[in-house]
Amino acid sequence: MRGEAFDETKHFLLKVDMKVLMLHGVNLNMFGKRDPLQYGTITLDEINANLHTLGKELGAELECFQTNHEGDMCERIHQGYFDKVDAVLINAGAWTHYSYAIRDALAILPCPIIELHMSNVHAREEFRRTSVLAEVVKGQICGFGADSYTLALRAAVSAVQSSK
Ligand code: DQA
Repeated sequence: MRGEAFDETKHFLLKVDMKVLMLHGVNLNMFGKRDPLQYGTITLDEINANLHTLGKELGAELECFQTNHEGDMCERIHQGYFDKVDAVLINAGAWTHYSYAIRDALAILPCPIIELHMSNVHAREEFRRTSVLAEVVKGQICGFGADSYTLALRAAVSAVQSSK
């Protein structure tokens, strides 16, 4: 919903003038339990809560989606096209490294797309250095743990604002 949102902490009305879609890919529902040395102990629900809080501050309405099924992810991206989302954030997990289907779906979107990763994918195994999404995204953020998400949201909001 675009319009105005009441910020309970600051007690004034903020203009909500953009819709941002956060896409979480395969295995990311296991954050909190999975490989804490790489990903810390934060859960996906906590990541989403942080994004919603920051979204309110920045005037962006967030919708978050996670799936372990590639076709479902493609269909959610198609829905983003019909919903006319203003920006997309995506941590595609391992799909980043090989999913041409997700790459092609993202390429349909006319809005800025920010690719992000919790870990520094360039400092890990060789296969993680390749992103098949790289060519269709505006930019990439990796290696900042949970802060990669909030940095990506700030980058998306700034990209949308400067395109208006
Ligand atoms: C990840 C990095 C990917 O290589 C990996 O397959 C993941 C998580 C990250 O957030 O660091 O699932 O995208």
